[in-house]
Amino acid sequence: MPDDALFAAVTDPANRADPYPLYARLRERPVARQRDGSYVVSGHAAIRALIFDPRLSSEDLPPFRRPPTGNPIRDWILNPIRSRIASAHRPLIFRDPPDHDALRAAVMREFTIPRVQALRPRVVREVDALLDACRGRERICLVDDLSYPLPVSVICDLLGVPESDEPQFQTWATQLATALEPDARGDVETRRHTVAAFDAISDYMRGLIREKRRCPTGDMLSGLAAPGPGGRKQMSDFDLIATAILLLVAGHETTVNLITNAMLTLLRHPEELARLRADPERAPRLIEEVLRFEPPVHFRTRKALGAITLAGETIPKGAPIILLFAAGNRDPARFDAPDRFDPDRPDLEHFGFGGGLHYCVGAPLARIEAEIALVALSRRLVAPRLMHDPPPYRPGASLRGPEQLHIGIDGIA
Ligand code: HEM
Repeated sequence: MPDDALFAAVTDPANRADPYPLYARLRERPVARQRDGSYVVSGHAAIRALIFDPRLSSEDLPPFRRPPTGNPIRDWILNPIRSRIASAHRPLIFRDPPDHDALRAAVMREFTIPRVQALRPRVVREVDALLDACRGRERICLVDDLSYPLPVSVICDLLGVPESDEPQFQTWATQLATALEPDARGDVETRRHTVAAFDAISDYMRGLIREKRRCPTGDMLSGLAAPGPGGRKQMSDFDLIATAILLLVAGHETTVNLITNAMLTLLRHPEELARLRADPERAPRLIEEVLRFEPPVHFRTRKALGAITLAGETIPKGAPIILLFAAGNRDPARFDAPDRFDPDRPDLEHFGFGGGLHYCVGAPLARIEAEIALVALSRRLVAPRLMHDPPPYRPGASLRGPEQLHIGIDGIA
């Protein structure tokens, strides 16, 4: 396969179960031009340099455009206005400073460490209840039985979204997450579905925010909707809707992969599963190594605001850039024996949560949920074994994780 077609192969579902040999080839040129004019950055040092580089922009989403409906008022007046508003008020993950920083600061005022830490007992209870519900079974599907429902219920609670409404926005959340997949973004049909999901979830959030303003309930959404320091609005209503959607989608689509990837890795390394069972204190270092070795987010895209010369290559102004975090995580120039799963390695400077300006705001929450889930799984699943290896994967190449993970068990302790 030619070097300038390697990233197209990464996005091919046929390579989803094991993209790592492709990453190794890409790393031979840490900054590699692809046939479509994009540049894939796969070396640890090069990624590290770029995540702090102000010449990179995260404002790389194609503009919102709604398909024609046949109704002239809608097609020529209403929808173009709505599209312009949605393009100008993207969620902060797709924004640059100074707007990004102001939005992020407002989120951080609500997403505090004490608030997240206080969730621990609730997460323990939820994990126990989900595992109790599997009693009497000879196999579980980790995704359906625990990895998906746990973070969804926690993020609903944290934001103040009634969990009974959750089934409505499950499909919207999955659809909106395709905005992170560069190949899906270009597809007209996918974009039509994405815009429809955005409109539906925006209407839902608008109503909920109105409700929170009328009657605050002490959750994150009530906090973000309330006046900020100095009594002024913390952000415009359009930004507030986009922020709430981002947090909800992130809560739905990422931690599921961390818990599932972690359990898959442990079942492939039974000695590590046994060590965790004997010593739950190992959970944090184990999760960090999963974030390096099998991260839930493999890459993110950017745009070059100016020409950038790095690792012998010049990225021209305007070029799309792919920061291939998962390849940097396995760079032998940075990590000893990078393809070995080793929770005891001393150096864990991974890109599992990205880095720089856009470093994940949900990292403390994801870590707590994954640690509690893994400890409970190691202790309560009796004689767990993988039913399919590799398991079937979800479609995403960026948000990468198993669609299902069937585990045979002799019971729930
Ligand atoms: C295991 C779970 C998670 C992983 C692996 C993960 C990963 C990431 C990564 C790699 C980024 C950087 C994106 C970039 O550089 O463009 C990011 C950003 C972000 N994450 Fe997470 N995330 C996780 C969970 C969460 C959760 C639970 C939330 C919130 C509920 C969240 C909210 C966000 C937000 C708001 C950003 C954007 C930050 C910014 O642009 O400043 N994430 N996440």
